[in-house]
Amino acid sequence: MATVTHAGTIYALREGESALDALLRGGANVDFSCRKGSCQSCMLRVTSGEVPERTLRGLRPSLVESGHFLPCLCTHEGDIEVEGPDRSKMVCEAIVADVTTLAPGVARVQLEPEIQLDCAPGQFLNIVRDGVARAATR
Ligand code: FES
Repeated sequence: MATVTHAGTIYALREGESALDALLRGGANVDFSCRKGSCQSCMLRVTSGEVPERTLRGLRPSLVESGHFLPCLCTHEGDIEVEGPDRSKMVCEAIVADVTTLAPGVARVQLEPEIQLDCAPGQFLNIVRDGVARAATR
């Protein structure tokens, strides 16, 4: 029986169950949304064991190299240990390059991030300022 260990607790996977589903069924405090590998909100980092290649779908190489994977796609055979994602690899600074007023109370804000962002159609990012996050499209 495959297991996933998170925050010191061992969760056993049922037949065909994903690591994310086992964690949620056991009451683990982990983020998730789509449950099908699209949003990346469930991303965790494996610290021991192997995860299938399909759990790396759409992740930047730097995230893969540091052990990140998508537990919602992870139906695995062995035992793995995981921890939360390395947020320093998911956040970057940006400066405001331009603000254009489009209508009263509506503005287009162009940002220049400090790193090249790899985005696919349909993805969005969160812009955080003063602790408040807003979703934005590219
Ligand atoms: S919950 Fe959306 S990618 Fe896993």
